[in-house]
Amino acid sequence: MITYENVQSMKQSVALITGANTGIGRITALTLARRGYQLILAGRSEQRIQAVIDEILQLGVVNRPHYVPLALDDLDSVRACVKRVIALDLPIRLLINNAGVAGLKGKTKQSYEMAFGVNHLGHFLLTQGLLNRLQSNSPSRIIHVASRAHWMARSIPWENLQSPTRSLTGVSEYAVSKLCNILYTKSLAQRLKHTGILLCPSPWGCRNRDLAKRARLAKTFAAIAADAKPRRRCGNNASLY
Ligand SMILES: NC(=O)c1ccc[n+]([C@@H]2O[C@H](COP(=O)([O-])OP(=O)(O)OC[C@H]3O[C@@H](n4cnc5c(N)ncnc54)[C@H](OP(=O)(O)O)[C@@H]3O)[C@@H](O)[C@H]2O)c1
Repeated sequence: MITYENVQSMKQSVALITGANTGIGRITALTLARRGYQLILAGRSEQRIQAVIDEILQLGVVNRPHYVPLALDDLDSVRACVKRVIALDLPIRLLINNAGVAGLKGKTKQSYEMAFGVNHLGHFLLTQGLLNRLQSNSPSRIIHVASRAHWMARSIPWENLQSPTRSLTGVSEYAVSKLCNILYTKSLAQRLKHTGILLCPSPWGCRNRDLAKRARLAKTFAAIAADAKPRRRCGNNASLY
């Protein structure tokens, strides 16, 4: 059972974060490092993640963070990442599925719609691959970084999930991918309720950063992001609580 005491004891544990080289993921990584977590940072550019590793090392942490290659738009890369992480043989007790794309159009290597493939499917496979490890180190936690945009998805267009992005802006596909994150979190929470793994959808914790800036139709995403009040900053992101 998850209690306040054993959640506190998780602080000396190992956390894997996807997309930690920038935005919410970077702040999450720095904050967890300050709290004593050993980190595994999974992402597609070693060079970009090295910059965050350097920042973490400047904090004087005891355990050097590990970099593991991960391209969420390629399921083979996700499988390879799982193997590498398991081979590290570290007591992972926190998985933060943070990486995400918005407004990026196209399809993944295995021909899934881009937002669905990266935001949901890649993280789904990563999570499934690490479940046994998380369970053997329980109490543990899995956090999916969600978005209020999921409310915009009225249903899941199953027939479109294996086609390139259809909408002009990619917003509706992003909303569907975030709804999938929420539904997966809910179903996993139900299935794992007696295993000591706590499932948390992390609500959106800060406003318009690289994700919106990088969106092809940046104005659309800036408008969505501006919907958030500036009262919250990146450092207050909900993945950390
Ligand atoms: N920012 C917002 O306003 C907002 C609002 C609601 C929810 N969220 C959610 O919060 C999370 C983080 O957002 P953010 O604003 O911090 O995003 P961000 O600054 O754009 O960072 C996105 C991260 O995802 C990684 N990524 C993208 N595509 C990838 C792929 N195919 N494989 C592996 N990694 C990939 C990026 O790595 P590269 O550097 O290699 O591209 C980057 O590290 C996302 O899940 C997003 O949906 C954000």
